[in-house]
Amino acid sequence: MPKQKKFHFFWVTILSFTIAYLFLKFVTPFIFQAIKGGDKLIPLPGTGMLMYLLLVILAVFSYISYSAKKFEEFYGPIVRFLAKGNTPQYWAVMVLVPLFIGWGVYDWVSPKTVSPTGIRIQHSALPGKFSKLENPFRHPTEEALKKFIKEENLGNIGHEEAKLAMVEKATNEGRAIYMLNCHPCHGCAADGNGPQADGFRLRPVNFTDMGAIATVIETYVFWRAKEGNPALPPESTPWDSAMPAWKYDYSDEEIWKVAMAAYDIARVMARQPEAAH
Ligand code: HEC
Repeated sequence: MPKQKKFHFFWVTILSFTIAYLFLKFVTPFIFQAIKGGDKLIPLPGTGMLMYLLLVILAVFSYISYSAKKFEEFYGPIVRFLAKGNTPQYWAVMVLVPLFIGWGVYDWVSPKTVSPTGIRIQHSALPGKFSKLENPFRHPTEEALKKFIKEENLGNIGHEEAKLAMVEKATNEGRAIYMLNCHPCHGCAADGNGPQADGFRLRPVNFTDMGAIATVIETYVFWRAKEGNPALPPESTPWDSAMPAWKYDYSDEEIWKVAMAAYDIARVMARQPEAAH
């Protein structure tokens, strides 16, 4: 029966669209996680979803409209259904569709009493495997310190003085890395006003702000500089952030140095880890 087949095509179209939606909503978070790594699912943000769904609609309509026959197969059932009129199904559709759209619009514009869920968390929890790390320049091993004294020809300098010299050297080396790589976004003075800063909707962080790196431990800055935006959890909207992961370009030691430099340039102190109190 040819009629049966035409009806079929209409539902196939609706079904393809539904499958595309379900795929984007429930499958892509796993794919993104597999690509980016980490232990959290990465959902597609609302605007990304809208973009993909519009593309799917566009693809479906190109397919439907590429021949008059396909066009008829899709619209035929709808037109015939509407033309029949005055059946219970007809009135059900005529009442339910406007009600459904009306409810959607109402839901969209009505004021909500719940707190907005779109708030971004800047300082998400430091991942467990980073929280134990210590800056090797602030807490050098006896061996590392001896090696440093020898390499720098510091003779029989005192233990504490040698440590200070080590911190100073590492910070200065970090400054060079900072000026090369971080300053375009975070600015020469670490005030978040680098030459590229205006290009990002989520601005590079102003390190001199008392609510920024001054409220976290140095290891946190090490983590953020090493892993960049891909490591952020969904509530910190990694897709909005331009913060690069520097682990591909720099060793851990170099990243510790640049973290020290970030504090030094901003003239703020890191929060001290609880254990040190
Ligand atoms: C392409 C621009 C860009 C560059 C280059 C860049 N950053 Fe960022 N950075 C950002 C943006 C945007 C944010 C804010 C969003 C976020 O937290 O991911 C940020 C956030 C941070 C944070 C989080 C601060 C906080 O208080 O949460 C740290 C730490 C950081 N950057 C360090 C660095 C270091 C160190 C470098 C250089 C090695 C660097 N950034 C280079 C754009 C950049």
